Amino acid sequence: MRTLLIVGNWKMNKTASEAATFVRQLNQHLPGNSTGIELVIAPPFTALESVRQVLGPTSPIQLGAQDMFWEDHGAYTGEVSAPMLKDLGCRYVIIGHSERRTLFGEQSDGIQKKVRAALKHGLRPILCIGESLIQRDNGSTDDVLTQQLHDSLSGLTGKAMAEVTVAYEPIWAIGTGKSATTEQAVAAHRTIRRVLGAVASSAIADGMRILYGGSVTPQNIESLLASDQVDGALIGGACLQVESFATIAKVASAARPIGV
Ligand code: PGA
Repeated sequence: MRTLLIVGNWKMNKTASEAATFVRQLNQHLPGNSTGIELVIAPPFTALESVRQVLGPTSPIQLGAQDMFWEDHGAYTGEVSAPMLKDLGCRYVIIGHSERRTLFGEQSDGIQKKVRAALKHGLRPILCIGESLIQRDNGSTDDVLTQQLHDSLSGLTGKAMAEVTVAYEPIWAIGTGKSATTEQAVAAHRTIRRVLGAVASSAIADGMRILYGGSVTPQNIESLLASDQVDGALIGGACLQVESFATIAKVASAARPIGV
């Protein structure tokens, strides 16, 4: 049984004080800790501490980071390491988001190192993969996803793989208001699970969560979660307003339990 995972990626939005206000309001909108799903928010590094303070030690909402560097410490100006994120209470870290790949030149070898460093320090990586519109139109979506998974995950032990969440985020759907259809998401998720099975084993792959990301809204979350192939969502724009993020969380909590 895979527990649904809803992750809010704030990207470069909200100061530390805006973040604290947001989380105070979010706490009022969410039903206790009986949601039956996992909820994660990934604020900018600068707001992790203030979000942690407001969440407190018993919150059902977990903290995630949006990126990290693979070395533990050293002369890497501007970078943040896994031990630093752990120390701030992070449980998850987003790795290989398409904005990091396209705007900041991240390559698959660095992404693989980040995944390994996160796992070494007990952070759960949320590995983002996805095809561009050109790649979808020329029929290479499956090849692109397969390559990205092999590049990032090959060589990991089954135990390590089990800690990884994959987020399928078609680049053409991110921030465009044009979500993938449920059918498109399900087809991609099936491919991803098949490849995960080849990289690890089908038993490990069956236990791993595959999220969908790209223009998820309170309106389309229900149909996306209607398939047992979709184990949750990685949300950008719609997680920045308290009401819409809370609505998405509530819809996800009400979705039928995910079967493998
Ligand atoms: P979006 O972003 O929900 O604004 O499309 C998703 C993401 O980048 O993870």
